[in-house]
Amino acid sequence: MAKKIVAGNWKMNLVKDEAKALASEVVAQAKAETPSDVTLIMGVPFVHIAEVKNIIGDAENVFLAAQNCYDKPSGAYTGEISAAQLKSYGVDYVILGHSERREYFGESNEMLAAKVDAVLENDMLPIFCVGEVLEEREAGKQNEVVSKQLSESLFHLPVEDFKKVVIAYEPVWAIGTGKTASAEQAQDMHKEIRAMLTAKYGDAANDISILYGGSCKPSNANEIFAGADVDGGLIGGASLAAADFVAISKSY
Ligand code: G3P
Repeated sequence: MAKKIVAGNWKMNLVKDEAKALASEVVAQAKAETPSDVTLIMGVPFVHIAEVKNIIGDAENVFLAAQNCYDKPSGAYTGEISAAQLKSYGVDYVILGHSERREYFGESNEMLAAKVDAVLENDMLPIFCVGEVLEEREAGKQNEVVSKQLSESLFHLPVEDFKKVVIAYEPVWAIGTGKTASAEQAQDMHKEIRAMLTAKYGDAANDISILYGGSCKPSNANEIFAGADVDGGLIGGASLAAADFVAISKSY
């Protein structure tokens, strides 16, 4: 059975005091309101990781994610952050392959395969992002695009490692635009992704959480999460407001 997961992606937002305030509000509200069977994750900028980890403390179903990592274990890579360094600060998950990293920083499926390996080797869990741009959707190529992203970055994994991966489907045309994919579009694509995973790994695919990302808000989360193959969401803008983010975690 796939875990119910609501993961926030703060992206490049908030300075120190704002980050501490948001994390404190999220933890307090999650303790009181988030169902015990929902995993709540805060995906924060590197600079806030230590503070947010401290704020999360012993909160039972609240976890910490980074938004990226480098694929090398250590060395002369100025400005980069290794998976081992993230693990040493208690990071639980690492978001990889977000469309903004693919677009702005040229991350290829091959580069991301190495990052997935680095995260798993350091006993953290990848949240691996896939999704098509508007032109690909309009050309009906979304399945082809997502299949290539999955196979080239994940399908080298043995099943015991594959089962640790969280998939996030993010139609790029819905990210930050307020133009959410319809619940039907989301479920259709999640069903296709589940089929791709099943074709490769069999029944193990049923234990993989597939999250939807792209303008998911308290107003639409319930309808989106009702999809049989939608196990939760990867939340951008709405994760920057504790009440909205925790409200989404209650939307099952
Ligand atoms: O990673 C999640 C993000 O890309 C979705 O952003 O603002 O559309 O929820 P947003």
